[in-house]
Amino acid sequence: MVADFKSNGASGAREPATDGRAKPINPGNAIEVDHIVKKYGDFTAVDNVSFNVKEEEIFGLLGPNGAGKSTLIRMMTTLIPITAGSARVAGYDVSKDPNGVRCTIGVIPQALTSDLDLTIEENMNIYAKLYDVPAKKRKATIDELLEVVDLTKWRSAQTKTLSGGMRRRLEIARGLVHSPRIFFLDEPTTGLDPVSRVAVWEMLTNIKSHRQLTILITTHYMDEADRLCDRIAIVDHGKLVALDTPSALKASVPGSNVIEAQFENAPADWEQRLHGLKGVTSVQHEGAGMYRILTGEGSRTTTDLVETAVHAGVLVKSLLVQNTSLDDVFVHYTGRQLRDELVKAHAFVMPPRPGMQP
Ligand SMILES: Nc1ncnc2c1ncn2[C@@H]1O[C@H](COP(=O)(O)OP(=O)(O)OP(=O)(O)O)[C@@H](O)[C@H]1O
Ligand SMILES: [Mg+2]
Repeated sequence: MVADFKSNGASGAREPATDGRAKPINPGNAIEVDHIVKKYGDFTAVDNVSFNVKEEEIFGLLGPNGAGKSTLIRMMTTLIPITAGSARVAGYDVSKDPNGVRCTIGVIPQALTSDLDLTIEENMNIYAKLYDVPAKKRKATIDELLEVVDLTKWRSAQTKTLSGGMRRRLEIARGLVHSPRIFFLDEPTTGLDPVSRVAVWEMLTNIKSHRQLTILITTHYMDEADRLCDRIAIVDHGKLVALDTPSALKASVPGSNVIEAQFENAPADWEQRLHGLKGVTSVQHEGAGMYRILTGEGSRTTTDLVETAVHAGVLVKSLLVQNTSLDDVFVHYTGRQLRDELVKAHAFVMPPRPGMQP
């Protein structure tokens, strides 16, 4: 039996191999990753990760810098060899049949790659030609995609004149020009301002409603993963630490509310006393008098907290009660906050100059 897979319209697409190498994947799965490992020398960048992505779902890989997200994408998209384990994309084994995989996927790498000296339309056309999109179909496809990403009126603008968000939208449109069935996007919104990020989310949702498409997206933005993804895999230090729908992940964390409060004059045992309040499942001291308290009884804990503070002569400078978020999920499964990891990874320490004492 061969994979039930039709040509996607671009002549570069092909029928699956019939030599038995391209095994059909389980019905309903677009991607299957099985105990995959990537080593660079002695360093393990991806450590025995397994997951499946269902057809037409938006699947998120969420993790801090260096977690192994891009390495996973690079293996799934045939750009780097797998050290151990296997991955199948649209029925093709990425190691044994990389060309089968390449014909079915679109990839938006982390770095921007559109040609700055060309116009939007020229960038799109080059890709359409590279992927052998028939000449008759090319214009209509490009017109449709530019409309979806809201760049129609800029089609003759040089790419170097575009904002980061517009350039990202161009690259997303360009990655769809050969009508891939599975779309990989590596941190498509990193570095964009909040308005442009929301525009990219809306665009991806819009594309999904127009086409049959499976999307695998990496991000380190919790809100993005929460809003966009049907299911999320949290990766940390190359390992998969949790995988589920955003709501199931949040429900798996003990406590249904999070209280963020800032205190002044708090005594040394304040964290311990907060722990003792009714309903509290965990307390994290974030520095500068700021505490993050998880509780199963938000309103009760809040009342007790204020009363305890008044009795102890502690000033409550600010108080915010909300539902648990993916931030809390990350802390629960890794013991650390994702935002701390991002700050650490971006911190740059000047190396000592030769001949100078550190
Ligand atoms: N070619 C390489 N040689 C050696 N180590 C590598 C190589 N590529 C990646 N790594 C290491 O593998 C780990 C995972 O890197 P990767 O780029 O997959 O992380 P990431 O989750 O995509 O992070 P970011 O959010 O910063 O893009 C990192 O520690 C990185 O330094
Ligand atoms: Mg990356």
